[in-house]
Amino acid sequence: MKMICLPIFLFFFPKVLVITQRADCRVPKQDESNCDLTNHHPASCSRHRSLVSYLRVHPRATSVSAVGYVMPPAERPAVAVEVVSRALVQASDPPRGIPAVLPVSNLDLILGSFHVFFIAVYPPPAAGFPAVAAAARAALPAFLSRFYPFAGRVVTNASTGVPEVVCGNAGAELVVARAGAELADVDFADADASLGRIQVPFERGLALSLQLVRFACGGFSLTWGTDHLLVDGHGLTTLPNAWAEMLVGGGLSWEPHHDRASLFRPRSPPRYSPSLDAEFVRYDPANLPNALLAAALVRRNYVVDAADVDRLRAAASGPERRATRLEALSAHVWKLLAAAVGGSDTRCRMAWLVDGRRRLDPAKYNKTHVNNYLGNVVTYASREAAVHTVRTAPLADVATMAAAAIAEVFRQERYEELVDWMEARKGVFAEGGKWTEAVGLGTGSPALVVSAFVPFRVEGDFGFGRPRLVMPWVRPGRLGSAAMTVIRSPAGDGSWLVTARMWPRLADAVDADPDAVFKPATAERLGFAAPRCCELGATGTAQHAVSRM
Ligand SMILES: *[C@@H]1O[C@H](CO)[C@@H](O)[C@H](O)[C@H]1NC(C)=O
Ligand SMILES: *[C@@H]1O[C@H](CO)[C@@H](O)[C@H](O)[C@H]1NC(C)=O
Repeated sequence: MKMICLPIFLFFFPKVLVITQRADCRVPKQDESNCDLTNHHPASCSRHRSLVSYLRVHPRATSVSAVGYVMPPAERPAVAVEVVSRALVQASDPPRGIPAVLPVSNLDLILGSFHVFFIAVYPPPAAGFPAVAAAARAALPAFLSRFYPFAGRVVTNASTGVPEVVCGNAGAELVVARAGAELADVDFADADASLGRIQVPFERGLALSLQLVRFACGGFSLTWGTDHLLVDGHGLTTLPNAWAEMLVGGGLSWEPHHDRASLFRPRSPPRYSPSLDAEFVRYDPANLPNALLAAALVRRNYVVDAADVDRLRAAASGPERRATRLEALSAHVWKLLAAAVGGSDTRCRMAWLVDGRRRLDPAKYNKTHVNNYLGNVVTYASREAAVHTVRTAPLADVATMAAAAIAEVFRQERYEELVDWMEARKGVFAEGGKWTEAVGLGTGSPALVVSAFVPFRVEGDFGFGRPRLVMPWVRPGRLGSAAMTVIRSPAGDGSWLVTARMWPRLADAVDADPDAVFKPATAERLGFAAPRCCELGATGTAQHAVSRM
């Protein structure tokens, strides 16, 4: 099978470089079934490859190239994703006993309603993409019967303004889309240009949008789009794990616990520390960073090798205390943050999202229900410190500060206080308002929020092999804090994957880190470099052209 790649033109400002390229795209036989995609986007195929070649020659060229030319954002090799179909899929066997309207818990309301995604990216499956899509279509109705609220709708209660879940089997969405690029050509290190495109926005109110994106020449992603009202990190990773169990094993060995509000009932009278009020603010667009300021934050994906985590852990541990891996990485990140802040502020903050499941007393909270519960059992821990202290203290001391901040919220009483606090502050919903954590806003001293998914394992094999990349994804809207999400690599080699949202100065500090802990998650590093279906004879030409600049 032969096809002609169209000439492509690249413009670099202020000097204009034009690369004209005409090449045969040779398609190896084994990939022919998947290569119809490149017929739709012959130009994008070669364009991506040229840009990738350019970036390989100038690895730091994402915004400003090594030779000083500014690469306009429009020329970045972002993946173009085109939706092929969207279908509503209902539960085949709705369970009995689930109320028509499922109230959410006060802990769900703390985090609130917004879309979250869990993205898994797979190398080409031997069975081909049509088999993957057919398996997903066939399995979804039974899956929804077990996870019935995800076939429902998130709606706002007209009298209270509080979001709730209508369990009427309106159906979850199954999206099939195609990407106009090969996995090998996706710039995964640029999170907006890769994951930001792979996840497909979906309609508000849908409780689940299951999304399959087929890449040119094989490879696909499976994305779980849902609402944070329904899941925290534990819940978001439980979905793909249950999916894998059902598709591979033919059933589910446990029963999800859907009854949300009764698990976390407010106490009477409510009891909480008055200091909780200072942790939250009304989510009010008038008091948020403006949209363009928020858009100045860059998003990058990194790989952290197991050896680097272990090295940090050794450095962060003292004779009396062994730091956890997460504390060690957090301490290192805190130091990078302090370095980025430099003299621009005297203080900076770190915050952590902490899962409280393990802290709930089984005598009060049924352990089976808590473990099989997908809803929110998370809270923020945060700590402000002097920039000077963070910069000069030994890594072990900074790790101890991180551990102390996390320990402060890692107790049952904290979650009970939050439930009571929300009960007393629910009135804002009736006014169309909601609450948000002050530390996430982007006001005050610079703050970086860490979401650690490392306690949760996602193998991701639902019959078509293991993914090479798994990552939660949220659109931060107008929040102006920095954030890092850390998850185990599905490679299972102890390495971690990180997606980071950062001010450019923090990104510079991370990239300039002499320890090089955060390595750009290139397609090659993730293991997506092969196979090629569209071998461009002119790749060498493109490299030659840019290297003459
Ligand atoms: C709205 O909330 C009120 C108070 O919690 C509840 O009684 C009512 O059933 C809810 N309405 C709907 C349509 O869910
Ligand atoms: C917890 O819930 C499970 C399932 O509903 C039930 O079988 C078990 O007896 C409960 N355990 C306790 C300690 O109440």
